[in-house]
Amino acid sequence: MLLILDEAQTAFGRLGSFFAFEHLGIVPDILTLSKTLGGGLPLAATVTSEAIEADCYEKGFIYYTSHVSDPMPAAVGLAVLRVLTRQNLAEQAATMGAYLKDGLLKLKDRYEAIGDVRGRGLMLGVELVKDRATREPDPEKGATITRRCLELGLSMNITALPGMGSVWRIAPPLTITYDELDEGLAILDQAIRDCL
Ligand SMILES: Cc1ncc(COP(=O)(O)O)c(C=O)c1O
Repeated sequence: MLLILDEAQTAFGRLGSFFAFEHLGIVPDILTLSKTLGGGLPLAATVTSEAIEADCYEKGFIYYTSHVSDPMPAAVGLAVLRVLTRQNLAEQAATMGAYLKDGLLKLKDRYEAIGDVRGRGLMLGVELVKDRATREPDPEKGATITRRCLELGLSMNITALPGMGSVWRIAPPLTITYDELDEGLAILDQAIRDCL
């Protein structure tokens, strides 16, 4: 059986390593990549071994789109990989992510409304609850505080789907600075205070 991992969101430094699977001590047979790879351009990739690729070819598996192997986004992808490596952005994500998580955990110490802070590197989640013991989600509070954050200059990502609006998904640029993280945490602090 083959192991396929989808790292559309987690690859390229986001979790503090180049790929998320490095944290798990496993190596996938097939890896799917997207998002960061194109640095804003639509670029995705499927990575596998020569043996699996040959097997797919032999079995007649084919996948085509208009822009398959398009050299322009591919050149952008290579530039993205160069920048990520040259600027050690995975390492930076680990350092900045730990700083951000620490700041969010301090907010959790102060506000009962924060039920959990989780994640790795610069991909963190903050869960809003009505009650810490029951962990009942609080989408109304999520929407209110998110609106207040925007008024104060901080764009927070919360899903608008019914029943899923209770967790902020925080994934800032890998190049974020300490000052920007401090500013974001201060606004979040104020928005929570204003809304409770
Ligand atoms: C985990 C994950 N996999 C795959 C996709 C789809 O990626 P694409 O739109 O580049 O095909 C997404 C897009 O949001 C995603 O988050």
